[in-house]
Amino acid sequence: MQPFFEQQRSPSEDKRWKIVEATARRHGREPHALIETLHTVQESFGYLDETALGYVAGLLRVPLSRVYGVATFYHFFTLKPKGKHTCVVCTGTACYIKGAPALLAAVGKRYGIQPGETTGDNRLSLVTARCLGSCGLAPAAVLDSAVLGKVTPATLVEQIERGVKHDA
Ligand code: FES
Repeated sequence: MQPFFEQQRSPSEDKRWKIVEATARRHGREPHALIETLHTVQESFGYLDETALGYVAGLLRVPLSRVYGVATFYHFFTLKPKGKHTCVVCTGTACYIKGAPALLAAVGKRYGIQPGETTGDNRLSLVTARCLGSCGLAPAAVLDSAVLGKVTPATLVEQIERGVKHDA
């Protein structure tokens, strides 16, 4: 048997991993579980990074190479954005109703990027997620690993500025 990346425990306390685990459980160990589980990771985090791919491999007991193969084959999967900072804006129902479009518009206006894009200087990537698992904090965003709850367009831009300036 080919070795696989054994990582059965959630990479962090982040509640979004629970959503990912629920999907994997719901689909058992069927082949389509891999695509469904990766979809859930992307919907929850906005993209797939190395940690997530390794975790999914362990969770479903499939070789990491196969997970990478699927993640890179389908164009609807996005591997980790290349910006130094990543802003994930939740566009799930609760967040959408409470102002997610205004958050995206504010970041778009300030940095000239749409969801899925990275600034020309590679400082910031903007992505969306369908539910961050923190609906009580709507509208929610995650800047790098910090969860920002009940965030306003002005606060979000201010926080991004602070992060971007910090390493200028
Ligand atoms: S809808 Fe945004 S956190 Fe759930």
